[in-house]
Amino acid sequence: MNERISVVTGDITRLEVDAIVNAANTSLLGGGGVDGAIHRAAGPELLAECRRLGGCPTGEARITGGYRLPARHVIHTVGPVWRGGTHGERELLRSCYLNSLRLAEENGLASVAFPCISTGVYGYPKAEACEVAVDTVSEWLASHELPREVVFCCFTDSDAALYRARLTRE
Ligand code: AR6
Repeated sequence: MNERISVVTGDITRLEVDAIVNAANTSLLGGGGVDGAIHRAAGPELLAECRRLGGCPTGEARITGGYRLPARHVIHTVGPVWRGGTHGERELLRSCYLNSLRLAEENGLASVAFPCISTGVYGYPKAEACEVAVDTVSEWLASHELPREVVFCCFTDSDAALYRARLTRE
């Protein structure tokens, strides 16, 4: 398993990393799931900064401060809504990971934690999303110094098991 990648089960808002990634929507103005949890934990200053960004298209990413979070920054990315897999979902999900990693690199961030983007409300099948996440991050790390470390923060043990299985195969 890649020594720069780890898998944890738990609440991403508790992680002390340089940035946590938010599975946001195109408004960047908050929502349910991990997005709601991040805004609640970061406080209203996060929403105020997000308002100034004016939204974010699907597959892209934006960076803000972390405010009351232990994480210094939040990278907001917008995953695709699953519509059967024939609407460019895979490429869009891959772009979420790549654009988030690029922002981390540009901002000199050493550690970044990702949730399982698109696999909640947006309905992306978990095993397929895990493949995209692990393969895209592994490929990035093979040719970039930053971020130094990536954490896959799963909310359930069954998600974490998928990630560990995929990583062991790499
Ligand atoms: N820490 C880590 N993972 C979490 C947490 C948490 N605190 N809470 C939920 N998850 P979702 P999406 C997991 O629905 O599918 C929002 O309303 C969850 O188990 O949060 O990308 C946005 O505003 C799942 O594995 O995001 C958008 O409108 C994963 O996070 C929409 O949902 C993603 O589930 C985005 O949908």
